[in-house]
Amino acid sequence: MKGLLLAGGYGTRLRPLTFTGNKHMIPVANKPILLYGLGHLRDAGIRDVAIVLGPVREGIQEVVGDGSSFGLRMTYIHQGEPKGLAHAVQCAREFLADSPFVMYLGDNLLQAGVRPFVRTFETEHPDAVIGATPVPEPRHYGVVELDGDRIVSIEEKPAHPKSNLALVGVYLFTPSVFEVIDHLRPSARGELEITEAIAGLIRAGRRVRVERVEGWWKDTGLPADLVEANDRVLATLTPGELPVHGEIRPGARVTGHVGLGRGTVVDAGAEIEGPAILGEDVRVGPGTRIGPGTAIGSGAVLTGCSVRRSILLDRVRIEGPVRLVDSIVGRDVTVRATRPSESEAQIVVGDAARILL
Ligand code: G1P
Repeated sequence: MKGLLLAGGYGTRLRPLTFTGNKHMIPVANKPILLYGLGHLRDAGIRDVAIVLGPVREGIQEVVGDGSSFGLRMTYIHQGEPKGLAHAVQCAREFLADSPFVMYLGDNLLQAGVRPFVRTFETEHPDAVIGATPVPEPRHYGVVELDGDRIVSIEEKPAHPKSNLALVGVYLFTPSVFEVIDHLRPSARGELEITEAIAGLIRAGRRVRVERVEGWWKDTGLPADLVEANDRVLATLTPGELPVHGEIRPGARVTGHVGLGRGTVVDAGAEIEGPAILGEDVRVGPGTRIGPGTAIGSGAVLTGCSVRRSILLDRVRIEGPVRLVDSIVGRDVTVRATRPSESEAQIVVGDAARILL
């Protein structure tokens, strides 16, 4: 079994956030999203993994390298122009050769990982395993309609969904999928759709198994999803995964599970309520309040502000009485508030911005 991790610019739902580097490297609980998928593939016993890269590649190869530090053998495939998920599979044909493979969309987070998919494949030997889970807004996803275990219909982002079961971003295929992909035509959004390939497999009489996904699933294509994924991952981290290397000064209040990186200082008069994670060399100044569900990158400086349920990337500076919630703040951003705000503010801002309030 091989692994295919997609980090290209596929998908119209992935609204580009203006962060430098590849958006799959945006941190969730201070770890790039893509590394969760990589870990799930490894945990399912997969050793040969290819990452399919789109036009924006920065940051991935530098971190993942040859994969040895993750217990993997890595290959990098350049998709060039991103023309859909099925196109990405086509680009990986030489790497995949005649091996079955797990395809994992690099912006997805699945609590249960991919092991259940591999288990189903190994015990039932179908031609494909796909994952589905109920969602409130199915029209944003691939949608599968079931009668018991039988697939009645499968459609990509239908205007009138026939069920509430969304396709999650994990798929397991045998090489039979190539027979279908070779005959696909671009969809209305101009992409070779993997959902169409699955529909083709079913039409060709191939066996496609639907795995009901247990635990939570998040496609982090939208800022609100990222914030929620961050919140959920933080809530599942154990104290061992949130080590305290930094310094909590007398007069500071730290409650719940809070990870503090090396060189991080929580000053007297500051307050942190976990679950939260702070990287290295962060300074939490007096009068600052950090609430649950917050991840802060290295080198950040916060004084006199309040932040909860948010993602702050490296070297963010927040000064003054602003109250942030559900926010994503890019690297090297400065937020300076001079007047106390009446209500909490939500900001989603890319790298290097300056905000004066
Ligand atoms: C893709 C698939 C869609 C699936 C979704 C899961 O959408 O096309 O069927 O439900 O991933 O994340 P995209 O992210 O390309 O819009």
